[in-house]
Amino acid sequence: MAKEIVLSGIRATGNLHLGNYYGALSKFVKMQEDYDSLFFIADLHALTTHPDPKTLHTNVKNIIAEYLAAGVDPDKATIFVQSDVPEISELYLLLNMHVGIGELMRTASFKDKARKALGIKTDKDEEDIEKEIIGNESNKRVNAGLLTYPTLMAVDILIQKANKVPVGKDQEQHLELTRRFARRFNSFYGVDLFPEPENFNFGGNAVKVPGLDGSGKMGKSEGNCIYLIDEEKVLRKKVMRAVTDEGPKVPNSPVSQPVENLFTLMELTSAPEVIQQYRDAYADCSIRYGDLKKQLAEDILKVTLPIRERILDIQNDDVLLARVIKQGADRARERAAKTLSEVREIMGIKKFY
Ligand code: TRP
Repeated sequence: MAKEIVLSGIRATGNLHLGNYYGALSKFVKMQEDYDSLFFIADLHALTTHPDPKTLHTNVKNIIAEYLAAGVDPDKATIFVQSDVPEISELYLLLNMHVGIGELMRTASFKDKARKALGIKTDKDEEDIEKEIIGNESNKRVNAGLLTYPTLMAVDILIQKANKVPVGKDQEQHLELTRRFARRFNSFYGVDLFPEPENFNFGGNAVKVPGLDGSGKMGKSEGNCIYLIDEEKVLRKKVMRAVTDEGPKVPNSPVSQPVENLFTLMELTSAPEVIQQYRDAYADCSIRYGDLKKQLAEDILKVTLPIRERILDIQNDDVLLARVIKQGADRARERAAKTLSEVREIMGIKKFY
């Protein structure tokens, strides 16, 4: 039986952090053993926020290097750059003919980004926000690429006929739209072309990697990240500065969110007996956060430093990078071209010559 197809992408907006590593990369490394896997860098999606052109190019290169350094293997998985597959852009145009502007406008990520772009306050109700987005005549603009972001993402998935798409919670709505577009296309033309992709949580629960600022998830825009590429000194400093609290005053106190976050990071990187030692110290109030942080930094470095070394090597190896990117592009294009020609045929776009 043919292997199931797994596909996932990451927007080319910056270096990869520990959240990306535990949430995505480390799982990709396992998936590539059992699935027909495709992992790509979504550079076209990154254009919605108008990155500096030089930075965009470097970001794409860095992320590829980070994929490889983390163990994604170009001979097991197809690693490619979205813009290397022009078939995606063509299918994006075709699929848009079956996508409603209303459903795109109601997408949570769109509303949120549009609201921010126009400086609309969150306390307004949904309907007023929608009206303001449409009625806006200031020189601020919400670009159409932002609106059709879900179409492009659906095309990434459908053009490869992926069955499983590992993504975080924030992308679930996009995946739901992808399924809807697939169903709609299939039933409109009476075909069975696109499988409906499902979210894929390899090996159980989604890991939520917290940031160092005492709040929620580690995220680029939160400024609370540990990057795989962080130098030893920088990383130690970040961890030592992580938000904590005043410390437990009475035995067996509940653990505050900022401190629990540090324990969560320990769960990912430290040995069980080390974690237990600090849990016990917390319970009997003898804990010193400075010691815990030193230990945590040490254990994180054991994970990230070898990866950092490899990233630096690979970034300097243009020949390797070119070979890997070309090989991935060829494979991804071949499959995309096949789907695109099926779609053209189905929609009645046929050559006269
Ligand atoms: N939108 C995804 C994100 O921001 C990135 C992405 C683009 C993607 N195309 C995709 C993820 C296709 C999975 C499948 O994280």
